[in-house]
Amino acid sequence: MSLLENIDKNNIPKHIAIIMDGNGRWAKKRNMPRTFGHKEGTKRVIEIVETSYKLGIKSLSLYAFSTENWKRPEEEISKLMELLVYYIRSQLKIIMKNNIKINVLGDISALPQFVQDEINTALSKTKDNDKMILNIGLNYGGRSEIVNATKLIHKDIESGKLKIEELDEEKFKDYLYTRYQDELDLLIRPSGELRVSNFLLYQLAYSEFWFSDVLWPDFDEEVLYEAIIDFQKRNRRFGGVNA
Ligand code: FPP
Repeated sequence: MSLLENIDKNNIPKHIAIIMDGNGRWAKKRNMPRTFGHKEGTKRVIEIVETSYKLGIKSLSLYAFSTENWKRPEEEISKLMELLVYYIRSQLKIIMKNNIKINVLGDISALPQFVQDEINTALSKTKDNDKMILNIGLNYGGRSEIVNATKLIHKDIESGKLKIEELDEEKFKDYLYTRYQDELDLLIRPSGELRVSNFLLYQLAYSEFWFSDVLWPDFDEEVLYEAIIDFQKRNRRFGGVNA
C-alpha cells in the first residue's frame, strides 16, 4: 500500500524545499566514487519533481549547489555541472508538458558558460508556465541572498522606485530569489544531518522542518509522502495561539 492514500489532498504544502544530502555516503557504502551518488541522486530529482507536480505543490526548491560547494574537488564540481545540464536537456520536454517553470536561486554568473547557456534556455522557455515552480539552488547561499536583496533595495531607493517607508518584511520578499512565490511550508533534509546549511534563511522563518536518515539517492516518492503526512499533523500557529 502506498502512503499516498494517507495524504490529505486539501492540505498539501504549497512550497517544499529539500536539501538533497547524502550522495557521497551512499556511493561510499557501495565502494563507488562520490559522483556515482550524484548520478543516482539526479534520478531522484527527476522522480521527486514529477511526484511534486502530481501532488499539486506550487513551489519545489532543491539545493543543488551551494556557494560553499566550490571547495569540492574540481572533478566532482564538473560532474555536478554535467548532471545539471543532463537534467535540463533530458527533462525540458516533460517540464514544458507539465507546465513547470524553472527558476534559479543563486548567482549563476560564476558557472561555466555552457551551463549558463543551458539554464538560460530553460528559463526563457519555461517562463510563462504556471502549474509549479521548480527552484534550483545553484551557487546559492542564504546569507548572500539577503545581502543581494539589500543591495537591490538600495538601488531602488536611490532611483526613487521604492520609498524607505514602504519597506517591510513583506516587501523585502520581493527582492529574494523566491519573489512572488508561496511561503515556504516545509524544509526536508535527508541523510541524518540536522542543519540548515545556509539554505533559504529568510524564507524559513515559519517553516516546518522534517529530517530523515534516508540518503538522497534512496529518497523515493514514499519518503516524500511520509514527510507530507507528518507535516499535516503539525500544529502551525505562526506565533499565535490555537483558536
Ligand atoms: C549533497 O550530497 C549533494 C550535493 C552537493 C549535490 C546535489 C546534486 C544532485 C542531487 C544532482 C544534480 C542536481 C540537479 C538539480 C539535477 P553530498 O555529496 O554532500 O553527500 P555526503 O554528505 O554523503 O558526502
